[in-house]
Amino acid sequence: MTGKSGNMQAFYHGWLMNPRKIGAIAPTSAVMAREMAGVARADSDLPVLELGPGTGVITKAILDQGVAPENLVSVEYSEGFLPTLRQRYSGVNFIFGDAFDISRIARELGIRRFDTVISALPLLNFPVEQRVKLVDAVLDLLEPGRPMVQFSYGLSPPVPARPGRFSVSHLTTVFWNLPPARLWLYRHHEAAV
Ligand SMILES: C[S@@+](CC[C@H](N)C(=O)[O-])C[C@H]1O[C@@H](n2cnc3c(N)ncnc32)[C@H](O)[C@@H]1O
Repeated sequence: MTGKSGNMQAFYHGWLMNPRKIGAIAPTSAVMAREMAGVARADSDLPVLELGPGTGVITKAILDQGVAPENLVSVEYSEGFLPTLRQRYSGVNFIFGDAFDISRIARELGIRRFDTVISALPLLNFPVEQRVKLVDAVLDLLEPGRPMVQFSYGLSPPVPARPGRFSVSHLTTVFWNLPPARLWLYRHHEAAV
């Protein structure tokens, strides 16, 4: 199974097994993947963290951006995606785990700081308090000033800003995606621009 049709098969297999976990009706488009990956810095010594790689469309875009595979950690909790991800993107550190457990995962990996976090998690499927906790945990692991990028199909951010804790800003709207999606940037309050 290779390329775009392989991605579609893997995606719909995962979707049939658990549609709520996947939280989308089609794989992320290459255009949206590029927009999200564009937030990462290839020249940073710090690793990039991807949450919810699924079929690996965004993983590929992050690597195409120049990030070294060894500098990418990617957390996925639908086990079925992992063999193909590991085979296609060797060198990337794919972790079978729950993104909501990111503080523990990072501690176990011995990582204190990431350069960028790129999240394709279907956040709207989770209670808002859990989403807030995730953003807080992720921002605590980011180099000061660096962002977490998150997509959402809604008009408003999937996690509202928390004054004094974190800000959220609209990066872009990607019409070339099914359905069209908005990209949001989260940053620690003091780093807000
Ligand atoms: C909207 S899909 C995006 C996948 C990918 N961009 C693609 O096009 O194939 C969301 C992905 O997040 C994963 N996911 C959902 N909740 C997760 C969690 N708590 N921890 C890690 N991965 C999760 C799902 O299994 C799925 O692969």
